[in-house]
Amino acid sequence: MQLEKCWDQGWLRYHLVQDQERLKEYNQLFTQIVLMKEGSAAGLVDESSILSSAVKELEQGIKQMVGTKPSIDAEVKLDGFIWLATFEQIEAALSDERMASRATELQNPVPEQDIRVSMDEIEALKKRQKSTDGYVLESFLFRGKKGLLLLANSESGLLYAAFHLLRLVQMEQSLDGLKIVESPKNQLRMLNHWDNMDGSIERGYAGQSIFFERNRFVADKGRIKDYARLLSSVGINAITINNVNVHAVETKLITSEYLAEVGQVASIFRRYGVQLFLSINYASPIQLGDLDTADPLDERVKLWWKEKIKEVYDVIPDFGGVLVKADSEHRPGPFTYNRTHADGANMLAEALRPYGGIVLWRCFVYNCMQDWRDRRTDRARAAYDHFQPLDGQFADNVVLQIKNGPMDFQVREPVSPLFGSMPNTNQILEFQITQEYTGQQKHVCYLLPQWKEILGFDTYAKGKGTLVQDIMSGDTYGYRYSGITAVANVGADSNWTGHTLAQANLYGYGRLIWNTTLSSETIADEWIRLTLTADKYAVQLIKQMLLDSWSIYEQYTSPLGVGWMVNPEHHYGPNVDGYEYSVWGTYHYADHQGVGVNRTKKNGTGYTEQYHTENAQLFEALGSCPDELLLFFHHVSYTHVLHSGKTVIQHIYDTHFEGAECAHQLLVQWLTLEDKIEPVIFEHVKGRLIEQSEHAKEWCDRINSYFYRKSGIADTQNRLIY
Ligand code: GCU
Repeated sequence: MQLEKCWDQGWLRYHLVQDQERLKEYNQLFTQIVLMKEGSAAGLVDESSILSSAVKELEQGIKQMVGTKPSIDAEVKLDGFIWLATFEQIEAALSDERMASRATELQNPVPEQDIRVSMDEIEALKKRQKSTDGYVLESFLFRGKKGLLLLANSESGLLYAAFHLLRLVQMEQSLDGLKIVESPKNQLRMLNHWDNMDGSIERGYAGQSIFFERNRFVADKGRIKDYARLLSSVGINAITINNVNVHAVETKLITSEYLAEVGQVASIFRRYGVQLFLSINYASPIQLGDLDTADPLDERVKLWWKEKIKEVYDVIPDFGGVLVKADSEHRPGPFTYNRTHADGANMLAEALRPYGGIVLWRCFVYNCMQDWRDRRTDRARAAYDHFQPLDGQFADNVVLQIKNGPMDFQVREPVSPLFGSMPNTNQILEFQITQEYTGQQKHVCYLLPQWKEILGFDTYAKGKGTLVQDIMSGDTYGYRYSGITAVANVGADSNWTGHTLAQANLYGYGRLIWNTTLSSETIADEWIRLTLTADKYAVQLIKQMLLDSWSIYEQYTSPLGVGWMVNPEHHYGPNVDGYEYSVWGTYHYADHQGVGVNRTKKNGTGYTEQYHTENAQLFEALGSCPDELLLFFHHVSYTHVLHSGKTVIQHIYDTHFEGAECAHQLLVQWLTLEDKIEPVIFEHVKGRLIEQSEHAKEWCDRINSYFYRKSGIADTQNRLIY
């Protein structure tokens, strides 16, 4: 197989099983794929259906990994069957068996017990709200034949089960006595692309768009299909393909000029259970030249959107809905007409309602021209101040999309206080997989530990134990729609993500939001074994590199939660006062005495008050505020002593020297893998790690010298500070 081709497949590389015993086991297990259509013997599937994708995936995976081609039949004939069935089909088949008193095998105590357990679990799965994507995967005996049963409530569930089975085979695990019951934690499991139609990607670090080029859709959509497979294999079920900043050309995606092709892309994703959404321009009625207003309460505007949405559904009957960035960073919105976000979102929701569509309305709303010299203004407050008072005013098919932190995807931020503060409004959490502020896919920064911390954060919204992950899953408040979305890190680069190790973030994101109990370590382990190598030493080493990488990045970049020390516009590289929206001052208020933002209720911006009491108190008091967020919440002197026992200034020096050294060690560690990783991948990652090591040194020098010059306080260890 060509190497380039291998890369294209990401973690679905499906190499031939190496362990001969295991290969034999699989050989015996995969002789026949059984499908029953509505209980009949037809056994054939509609080529465009999700079920057909499941069958094709199984066929392809088995061919590549086991080297055999199972037959496709409408009934169990052979030992070694893989039976794909819906709950109804299996119930019907089993009851037929019993009725005909031919269930001799079923009376065998062992399988009978198996079946009974399955049926109980199936019942439980069916009752769960989000069960349509869940599945059972288990060893099964039927009419004396041994095989595997893949059971689900829907075709998507069967596809997820098929991918799960293939993952086990890829990791060469025994399938003996298999018994897996899965149900996703989150209902909406989404990705947002920030792709522009000229082919560029806002904050993209992996080449051009896989969807667009030169203001058109790409002609060859093969890569989109490959992408749909990757997403589905980790459980993603929704996507937006265009940037939240919807410019002139992209505004036209909802017009006849582009809709047919949007429909084509939607059908590629549909076959893999991924529903298509679009980002829309709030001012479309004006931009497309039809009206002179976009006022959400104007009857003409309401009608315009109703007709427009109907046009979209005529082409894409299962269109998911729209994503809207309004009244933020110069985007239009309802504020122009003195209307609220609820007015704006509800008007669109009304137009989408007849088709079951939803509005994802972003809460990333702040005044980017705020004057930061006035210390009472605080960008961190903005989302909560804008949206919390509107709780209960949004239609039930509006979902507020909230970034994980109150600012903007910094390496360290507190969790947004909006989570848990709007019990009557659907919410979805937004992560950023693309590494805008975390090394731009030139630095390795495995983000799973960060996401797990956020999901595990206790909001105290309904008392102790009200975790973000349970709010997002809809469990806490019984949201009608909820889940998790993230800004994708994918582009046309052959390895999808620029830095090959950044692929672990895409893989891990899908796995984590399906099952939030998975550990960062388990996920890293899976991705490495599926994608890079099964060599034990290499797996262990790369896993550790990934697991350490976020904290290493944090060490040599911005200290103690302060954030933003990046160059203007592109946001790469150290520049302590560089961030473009700090034109009015700084984002960290460093002077010769101290550093940090006073966000206390007592004498700061009052941001701490937005949290529920336990967290508000935790962050308010210097004595209890966690070190890693100290400068986010407090302005302190350089000699302030942290819980760690170090002064702030010494912490800055130490972490920057250590972080740069650790970044260099990542390279040293990787170099020990030369004979264990395919040469092209080895060289590629080596190149990135060299850049990271050098760049980390630059970060270290720039930040340390800035604070040395500001504070005039020497490093206790007398290391060289330029
Ligand atoms: C950040 C990012 C922008 C993006 C914005 C958003 O500010 O730098 O490129 O448009 O977030 O999330 O809307």
